[in-house]
Amino acid sequence: MSQSRKLRSAEWFGGNGKNAFMHRSWMKNQGLPDDLFDGRPVIGICNTWSELTPCNAHLRGLAEHVKRGVYEAGGVPFEFPVTSLGESNMRPTAMLFRNLASMDVEESIRGNPMDGVILLVGCDKTTPALLMGAASCNLPAIAVSGGPMLNGNFRGQTIGSGTHVWKFYEDVKAGRMAIEDFLAAEQGQSRSAGSCMTMGTASTMASMVEALGIGLPDNAAIPAVDARRGVLAHLAGRRIVDMVREDVPMSAILTREAFENAIRVNGAIGGSTNAVIHLIAVARRIGIPLDLDDWDRLGRDVPTIVDLMPSGRFLMEDFYYAGGLRTVMRALADKGLLHTGLKTVSGRTVGELIADAPNYNSEVIRSFDRPLTEQGGIAVLRGNLAPNGAVIKPSAATPELMQHRGPAVVFENIEDYHARIDDPNLKIGADSIMVLKNCGPRGYPGMAEVGNMALPAKLLKEGVSDMVRISDARMSGTAYGTVVLHTAPEAASGGPLALVRDGDMIELDVAGRRLELLVDEAELEARRRAWVPPVPPAASGYQSLFIQHVLQADQGCDFDFLVGRRDATVGRHSH
Ligand code: FES
Repeated sequence: MSQSRKLRSAEWFGGNGKNAFMHRSWMKNQGLPDDLFDGRPVIGICNTWSELTPCNAHLRGLAEHVKRGVYEAGGVPFEFPVTSLGESNMRPTAMLFRNLASMDVEESIRGNPMDGVILLVGCDKTTPALLMGAASCNLPAIAVSGGPMLNGNFRGQTIGSGTHVWKFYEDVKAGRMAIEDFLAAEQGQSRSAGSCMTMGTASTMASMVEALGIGLPDNAAIPAVDARRGVLAHLAGRRIVDMVREDVPMSAILTREAFENAIRVNGAIGGSTNAVIHLIAVARRIGIPLDLDDWDRLGRDVPTIVDLMPSGRFLMEDFYYAGGLRTVMRALADKGLLHTGLKTVSGRTVGELIADAPNYNSEVIRSFDRPLTEQGGIAVLRGNLAPNGAVIKPSAATPELMQHRGPAVVFENIEDYHARIDDPNLKIGADSIMVLKNCGPRGYPGMAEVGNMALPAKLLKEGVSDMVRISDARMSGTAYGTVVLHTAPEAASGGPLALVRDGDMIELDVAGRRLELLVDEAELEARRRAWVPPVPPAASGYQSLFIQHVLQADQGCDFDFLVGRRDATVGRHSH
């Protein structure tokens, strides 16, 4: 296939001058023959490999598969590392560093000789961080996810990442599980390379990659250790070279319609609430307007048909064997809920990719006549407690609690919650609404995944299994419960959440999309005047930059100065 326009990399490697000499000569210290610099497409492999990001610890191996494909197609690959974000380890929360990693990605791509890029992603925040950074550059790009771990297995029982941690921990607190058994489950939960194998944030974002068309078919679900994951990476390596030759930038794939498809897919898979924040952020980078109302309007009537934990029974390995995301997308298309004419990075349209998608297991991927839950999407709530919106995942909630009025039990921050939740004197009942403040983007900072606060042990022992919880925090995609999240504006910015006091009545009405603090306006105004902003936890360093510039959840939590595309204009050189 011939080149349709001058390659960006020729600015570095083309010609016979001093600069070309320097650019080529130093690269040749890696043992590269002359003809690798003869004008063939240069492909960056942006790798989030790290042993401290266990979900991405296998990505150097996957990069080798990509390289084979790139060479085969006549390109030349260069792998480079970027900041890796491991959800299970990073403190205070990996989300604090998503934007930082995106800046690393953007500047690494723009500053280096490459014509196209493969984004190797896996753990939760690595996917949006790389999509955001690459979108601001707008080169041809394909995201390749690392794939989920094999099903967890503990003493013959299938267990899911995260979901069973919450469940087992509640069992321990309620006296139903011995601590020795709890500890013995650790290795059984994580028994292969890969990311969380529930439909948590990592699996959701891998599905979003495929639904957006920015990844190849089956990107969502092939297990990390299945040889077919290597095949997918290999094919991505081949295809990115053609995309450079065809001059297909990310903006040709990430269209408004592609995001609409992704929102509907998220409903059908019962995807993580975190996808709301990440997709809004990615869309705004590429220049597509997307907001909370799009999520509610497009997703509200989409039933969840994938029976995966945390909402259902199965895991990602089962999902792949049942047919994977293409089967789900075909079901959506059959209902007229998908734009099928969109181009994907595969070179084929969405419709072409899903036309023959079979369903090998109708228990794992159900039909729309027999869904897991009728309301699969993310419900967006508004009211005087969340003027700019809050979200709840109905498929993870208890149906009887989705219409609920109860008195608030307020925790000023997560430390306050930990200090008092199991105090036997805490006045709290099954009807109470737990309210957690100051865990939003600026307040925590970084918007921690603490919104699914564990219930008090004394209520768990009485058999209470769910309560309404409201916060400005996020929650892990592997978690469940009647949990209202992302309340905006957040408490630390003076949002109404900051004004809630113990005993205030709160009304949650998911069907009506309302979240109301039942306190009269005069009283709220008096509280507003008396409100004292919390002292920011950091006066210098990266955290202070974060607090000054992070946008609220309804705007994707990006930094205000990063929104939008800056493309990949080749900068000046210093030689
Ligand atoms: Fe990395 Fe769940 S902790 S994907």
